[in-house]
Amino acid sequence: MQDEEIHLPPPTLWPLGFAIGIAVILVGLIIDPLWISSIGGAITLVFGFLWIRDASAELRGHRIVVEPERRQVVEAGAGQVGPSAQAGGDAMPHPAPGERFPRSKFLEASTLGLGGVIGGLITVPVAGFAVLPSFLGQKRHRVDMGPVADYKEGQWYVATFNTDPKEGDVARRTAFVRNNGSLAVSGRQEPSFTIISNRCAHLGCPVQANGPSGAILGLKSQTEKGANGPVTLNPTVPAGFGCPCHGGQYDTEGNRTAGPPVRALDRYDYEIDNGRLVLLSTYSVSHVDGQGAQAKIHKYKSVGPGEHVDGPEQWFYPINPPHH
Ligand code: FES
Repeated sequence: MQDEEIHLPPPTLWPLGFAIGIAVILVGLIIDPLWISSIGGAITLVFGFLWIRDASAELRGHRIVVEPERRQVVEAGAGQVGPSAQAGGDAMPHPAPGERFPRSKFLEASTLGLGGVIGGLITVPVAGFAVLPSFLGQKRHRVDMGPVADYKEGQWYVATFNTDPKEGDVARRTAFVRNNGSLAVSGRQEPSFTIISNRCAHLGCPVQANGPSGAILGLKSQTEKGANGPVTLNPTVPAGFGCPCHGGQYDTEGNRTAGPPVRALDRYDYEIDNGRLVLLSTYSVSHVDGQGAQAKIHKYKSVGPGEHVDGPEQWFYPINPPHH
């Protein structure tokens, strides 16, 4: 009778499902935290619940069902010698009267619970401090670049501006700006601009205009007064753009033409507000077909330098915090 009351829990697949759920969460953090990590979280929760429920079945007064042994009964003395399993005294004392579960069950549940709490205490703050700051406090920047009329049609300018004056000089940026003239949008003529970031798509060095600029052309640089402070516009005539660090080269639409960069130069979104050019967030570009106002830009959300935005390679990079 005693043998029927003291059991080990039967083997279960719940821990395996729990581990798969954790693995899916981690993979999702790299690929798609919103969907894949959420699915991993759901798997983890379901299997974690089932695992805890099984492990604590006896604590909750549920009897553990153990499959009966199905070995053939061999008659004593039929080809085997040795004492019967029932011979001799009890190896262990019977549980005390009223005891509902063996102590090992309690220790097992305590160990699991304590392990979970310690794991959570260590993992949650580390993960939070490592990941969250990049996702919080990101502001959208708007940079007033001055009146559209101050940008001569077809002329390139090296524009230097500040995206957030409160951050000081670390927020200074440079972009190559060209007024493409007007473009018909929904039956209306809208100003069209090409605004290319000077951050190299290889490792982020400052890309330069390959061509003369300013005084050498007999053109004066101009300063616009915007809400974010002065914007300097230095006229230039680039044959393309080049990176001084590792020789990355781009054409005037920002397409990579040589060197190690893996994609085209990033661009700035923009809008026209009361006749003034306003720079918005940057976005990444795989490549551009065509030119100027007619260019077809293959646009992607902003990613870091060196990262592919299309093709299978795009899956090999960690998630990017929002850039504005
Ligand atoms: S950083 Fe521009 S080519 Fe390497």
